[in-house]
Amino acid sequence: MTLILGIETSCDETAAAVVADGQTIRSNVVVSQIDIHQRYGGVFPEVASRQHVLSILPVIHQAMVDAEADWDNLDAIAVTHGPGLAGSLLVGVNAAKGLAWGRGLPLVGINHIEAHIYGNWLADGPPPEFPAVCLVVSGGHSELIWMTGHGQYRRLGSTLDDAAGEAFDKVGRMLGLPYPGGPSIQRAARGGSPAAFRLPRAWLPGSYDFSFSGLKTAVLQIVQKYPSEDEGLQAGKRRATGAQPLLMRMMPVADLAAGFQAAVIDVLVTKTVQAAQDLAAKTVLLAGGVAANDLLRAEMVRNSPVPVCCPPLELCTDNAAIVATAGFFRFQAGERSGWDLDVVPGLRLATEQEGRPVQDSFPAPVL
Ligand code: KG4
Ligand code: ZN
Repeated sequence: MTLILGIETSCDETAAAVVADGQTIRSNVVVSQIDIHQRYGGVFPEVASRQHVLSILPVIHQAMVDAEADWDNLDAIAVTHGPGLAGSLLVGVNAAKGLAWGRGLPLVGINHIEAHIYGNWLADGPPPEFPAVCLVVSGGHSELIWMTGHGQYRRLGSTLDDAAGEAFDKVGRMLGLPYPGGPSIQRAARGGSPAAFRLPRAWLPGSYDFSFSGLKTAVLQIVQKYPSEDEGLQAGKRRATGAQPLLMRMMPVADLAAGFQAAVIDVLVTKTVQAAQDLAAKTVLLAGGVAANDLLRAEMVRNSPVPVCCPPLELCTDNAAIVATAGFFRFQAGERSGWDLDVVPGLRLATEQEGRPVQDSFPAPVL
């Protein structure tokens, strides 16, 4: 049995997990900073890294306790070293290096996007079949990836502007919904009609790329037709009714949320299905925080010509079990990172030209 400790601090979750053989989760501790960042309407990088410093050692300790694991039984430590916020990544990478050095354990640097993809190896049922089209949609990334084997990727397309999750977060803010926007919009959309507003879809014919900025602007233009909270309150006071201002109540938040969500998912599903057909994929894999969206999961299953695999809901958003699982496959393949492993905030998973994972350029093993 191979036991890996995973560590994740790329954004606003401090997480550690112990996973056996890349498939059995022994512990999975996630300390979210959502409450702290909610007041800023998004992640405040400096605050995020300070919170990681406070949480990282207790979180790792808890993961070891929950797993009833002993340091001597661990085989390796896997840590996210990019992409993400530099200050946040540094906390996890330095903690991992210190522990690996102190305990004499091998260190494996992991690409956060790859970790999200490996959430699919933690789903029930047989492991996904290759080749697979992976739709990776998170707060920082929207990419279609062609995966032909473990660690073998080629980027088919990516967003030209906002990531899908980022668009959910920004539109959530426009609609006055709490951060993060994705789950808030999903909830709000349940009471709305996706057909109430005809919102644009950027099809970008002939490519697997995405673009969400036009859709975001279209929502903004509708929202601006309604008074801001302050204007509404002033109007309400002038009427001295004491009730919620009439105009504010008219903002069709549920319809806008439903229309926006339908537009994003329409494009994500259509492009993924097209890629799966064009390339004769055996599986479609969903990954990243937006893969928690129930409409995306349902529509992908309904439209895909091949089986669709989704990580368990709680493993779609950032956590360290997916890092440990990705770490297991790289560790099995003999990969080790050197003590000079650095954070790479803009780390990419694959290049279109070469189709090789960026980790191929890791320094030679020193352990
Ligand atoms: O993967 P993740 O936890 O962090 C990054 O690596 O970015 O993804 C977070 C993103 C946020 O933008 C959040 O709004 C979005 O995932 N998200 C969702 C849902 N749950 C989280 N988007 C749509 N529907 C959801 N249910
Ligand atoms: Zn993520």
